[in-house]
Amino acid sequence: IKFAVFASGSGSNFEAIAQAVRDGRLQGELVLLVTDKPGAYAVKRAEALGIKVCAHNPKDFTSKSAYETAILEMLHQKEVEWLVLAGYMRLIGTVLLQAYPKRIVNIHPSLLPAFPGKDALGQAIESGMKVTGVTIHYVDEGMDTGPVIVQEPFKIPDGWERDEIEQVIHSIEHRLYPETLNRLFAEALEESK
Ligand code: GRF
Repeated sequence: IKFAVFASGSGSNFEAIAQAVRDGRLQGELVLLVTDKPGAYAVKRAEALGIKVCAHNPKDFTSKSAYETAILEMLHQKEVEWLVLAGYMRLIGTVLLQAYPKRIVNIHPSLLPAFPGKDALGQAIESGMKVTGVTIHYVDEGMDTGPVIVQEPFKIPDGWERDEIEQVIHSIEHRLYPETLNRLFAEALEESK
């Protein structure tokens, strides 16, 4: 299965996924990094890993559809079959949703439907949650609202600082995302037989 990762920021999940592909823990071909932030650190990681980058600034387009159509052109060129969102800070629009039905997934640092949107961990801490976690879900037109694929909870030890919790959440993500993608891709291949 050929897939693209979408990221707007640091790209630590992107790198973890790329590593898993290299190690053979994730059977698939990571052919493209798509970003809406040409200056994102994720782009540097892609360059270091030798993975092609598609970087368009949405501001250079007259509409979301025009922006996504430009991305879609590149996705078709690279024969991308699945879209993997990892810190892509933008809603997916109808152009990509229609082109990849049930083939777009996202990772989110909370137990959805709790704390969708930005700074999920901050929201969880703010409301005094004793348990948080990570969710991987299919993407629909909403913000962090599609059907859940897998969730992993994490019990927050008393007195922990945000930084410490964040590190654990990231380490869960970096293991869970490659593992889950490997399963989804295997299932997709099975179904297409
Ligand atoms: C992750 O916590 C992910 O769950 C969220 O955005 C963050 C991206 O981190 N959607 P990184 O860019 O992969 O380091």
